[in-house]
Amino acid sequence: MAVTVVVGSQWGDEGKGKIVDLLATQFNVVARYQGGANAGHTIKWGDKTQVLHLLPSGVFSPGVDCVIGNGVVIDPRALVSEIREVQSLGYELAGRLWVSGNAHCILPYHKALEEIHSSEKIGTTKRGIGPAYTDKVARSGIRIMELVSPDLFSKRIKEELERANAILRAYHRQTLNPEDIISEYSDYGRVLTKYVADTADFLHDAIDSGKQILAEGAQGCLLDIDFGTYPYVTSSSPTAGGACTGLGVPPTSINRVIGITKAYCTRVGHGPFPTELNDGTGAHLRKIGGEFGATTGRPRRCGWLDLMALRYSCRLNGFTELTVTKLDVLSGLDTIKVCTQYEHNGETVPRFINDALSLSKVIPRYEVLQGWKENILGCTDVNELPSAAKNLIDHIQVHTGVPVKIISTGPKRSQTIQLGS
Ligand code: IMP
Repeated sequence: MAVTVVVGSQWGDEGKGKIVDLLATQFNVVARYQGGANAGHTIKWGDKTQVLHLLPSGVFSPGVDCVIGNGVVIDPRALVSEIREVQSLGYELAGRLWVSGNAHCILPYHKALEEIHSSEKIGTTKRGIGPAYTDKVARSGIRIMELVSPDLFSKRIKEELERANAILRAYHRQTLNPEDIISEYSDYGRVLTKYVADTADFLHDAIDSGKQILAEGAQGCLLDIDFGTYPYVTSSSPTAGGACTGLGVPPTSINRVIGITKAYCTRVGHGPFPTELNDGTGAHLRKIGGEFGATTGRPRRCGWLDLMALRYSCRLNGFTELTVTKLDVLSGLDTIKVCTQYEHNGETVPRFINDALSLSKVIPRYEVLQGWKENILGCTDVNELPSAAKNLIDHIQVHTGVPVKIISTGPKRSQTIQLGS
């Protein structure tokens, strides 16, 4: 069995990029399975920092193959720019980056349509994600295999733009010129053509030859189109099941599912967030944790760890282990709260509620844990952690029933505690 899946267990931004980068050298292949350039995976090594939006977080581990699966929606402009950036840092991608021909393209009209439909209501990243997945499901999307085939691409753009322009006109928005898109995007097609592959077949061969695959999710479980706080969600399936449909790997090939959780919670965009802190503590977490969107720069909403949400996430994804990130950010607080129950309509509710309206009305009930004063930034040994910090980790394990195997104590690869395999 060959596939390990890394899933964000909250509303995204849990630090998946760092963990995938850290684990990448133990794998032969790192494969992104959903989302698009709405993701921002920040990777720090040495004195370098790089934010990846589309490329898998294995690109900085030479010798590791990287796959962008069929479940990802690809903005060709963003991908080409990211490929050039990573190559300029000295990391060769030819012969080790494989992009699914079945993945759908995000084109300029998707971003224009998003402005009309959903960006303000949901607080989206405005990267065209929703409209691109809408076209995919409506069977009118343009795939990467068409982008790299000039005649077909030109024909398809003309067809699709006729429809998109009709909508833009109806909403009194500026229409788009097909020739401009054809000319710019055909250039991207020429750059991308050498990376295009049947990635499901590539992964099946990897599985058959005993290689190890790390499937990298973007966003988080609570933003899942089916299981998140709809409609305040993204348009894909960040949950572990998304790895099967987004890569074509069978469920029986997955033997390890790592859930990444921050030691507190954050959310960007609109939607219910029971443990949100609209006070000095929330502002403190934002400042110390650097909680600003890696893609949009928006300040993230901050709050206490919600164990109800985490337990829901554990059950949905079948996590075999947890990674707790940003534990260092909690240093210096007198007390730390964790939500262990909700109150809804005067009744105690011992589970997460994914109905957005009901969730917006719950009152979180907390257990109050002792904080710690010691600075634990960069700690690499669990025995160096203050007992209050270990107590928080124990609390997470007890409430979820899932072992914590990795603790992140800073943004760099080296700032990590590994608790055995
Ligand atoms: P979209 O994915 O751009 O359509 O945005 C839908 C919702 O998901 C919005 O609330 C976004 O802020 C949120 N979102 C999308 N991508 C990310 C991410 O990578 N991290 C955190 N939130 C995200």
